[in-house]
Amino acid sequence: MNAALTDEFPATSEAAFPARLARELLDEYGSPLYVYDGDVLRAAIRRITGSIDYPGARFCFASVTNGNLALLRIFRDQGWGLHANTPGDVYLGLRAGFKPEDIVYSGSNLNREEMKQMLEWKVGTLNLDSLAQLKLLGEVLGVGQASSPRVGLRLNLPGVTGETRIGVNPVELPEAVRNAGDAGLKVTGVHFYRGTATNSTTAYVDSIATVLQAGAALPDWKYLDFGGGFGYPYSKDRPAFDWRSFASALTGQVRALGRPLDLIIEPGRAAIAGCGTLLTRVVSVKWQAEKQIAGVDTSVANIAVLSVHGGYREINALESRSVERYVTDVCGNTTFSRDYLGRGCRLPALQPDDVLAISDVGAYGYAMSSHFLHRPRPAEALVENGTHRLIRRREDYSVLTERQCLSEDDK
Ligand SMILES: Cc1ncc(COP(=O)(O)O)c(C=O)c1O
Repeated sequence: MNAALTDEFPATSEAAFPARLARELLDEYGSPLYVYDGDVLRAAIRRITGSIDYPGARFCFASVTNGNLALLRIFRDQGWGLHANTPGDVYLGLRAGFKPEDIVYSGSNLNREEMKQMLEWKVGTLNLDSLAQLKLLGEVLGVGQASSPRVGLRLNLPGVTGETRIGVNPVELPEAVRNAGDAGLKVTGVHFYRGTATNSTTAYVDSIATVLQAGAALPDWKYLDFGGGFGYPYSKDRPAFDWRSFASALTGQVRALGRPLDLIIEPGRAAIAGCGTLLTRVVSVKWQAEKQIAGVDTSVANIAVLSVHGGYREINALESRSVERYVTDVCGNTTFSRDYLGRGCRLPALQPDDVLAISDVGAYGYAMSSHFLHRPRPAEALVENGTHRLIRRREDYSVLTERQCLSEDDK
């Protein structure tokens, strides 16, 4: 009952969401529905946290992947901080109850108002990605500011990450330190981000030495933020990221520096992908020669990651009337030419009202959904300890017009 968006990964398992629970959830909260398993999430958090043995290490969940407050609270309660890519992430983090000092921002291109907002919110750590942003921080902080956040710079290491617009080249660090000093600031950290969905543990381990070498240019170096980007396998045939070997290589090399650096690690996808499932009902079935075309009540606007990034997600039919499997395209409820939730899937013969479960959608799923195609977004539910509850209400059509102005009175 396994399905691939591309043919790249073969079918492997019969993993399925419990059919009775799926029906219960859909009856109560409607379809389509994002469902998160809190127990699975806690287990992933424990596994990642337990991989590292270093007193100054702190994991910060990258909420770019999923900004649901109920899930953010699970990370907070497990002792993680929050990683913010944008001021919106900070806002969500504060609303979820993270202390400002437990929030690490590493983003790009804040305007003056946003920089001020970061300071008003008292965000604990700001990793900036250009000398211009550092200058802006100095200006906004002004003279006589009682406390400054911890300030770091994101590294741009073309030899490691390839060409990227984000970050500061190590040759700029001495100038950055000087400029910061003139503004009464100290640059105490370096931040590194290898790029998302890297399943290769070796690729991470190989980059450690270059990052540490760059950081050594900071006279007041106190912390290293090694970013996120750690992959999630999605298919049981693919290797999982090896947290233990990565953590042991990282802490080993940091200890060898002989300076007490704090360590920040910002996993997003690796922590949260696996706890999320998108449940959807089949609404229409037709056949094109031997191929089954299953139309469902969701679309790639509800889970943009498939259409935007491609890739593989398991799709299981929760009720199976026969052992036969048919090549099936799972199609969304729009005429958008890329509205496929899965292509070339191997599924049983389906009927309207059957339920399909799209697995591992906890990261970049709801967070990247949109109103493209003008379908309101699904609800989200959390299952844990044998119970379930709604954690985000389904949108209705009013979201399509509520910010629109037809006359002066609407402003
Ligand atoms: C700076 C930074 N940290 C962490 C993340 C999370 O990445 P991932 O979900 O690949 O772990 C991102 C994603 O954009 C990021 O830009």
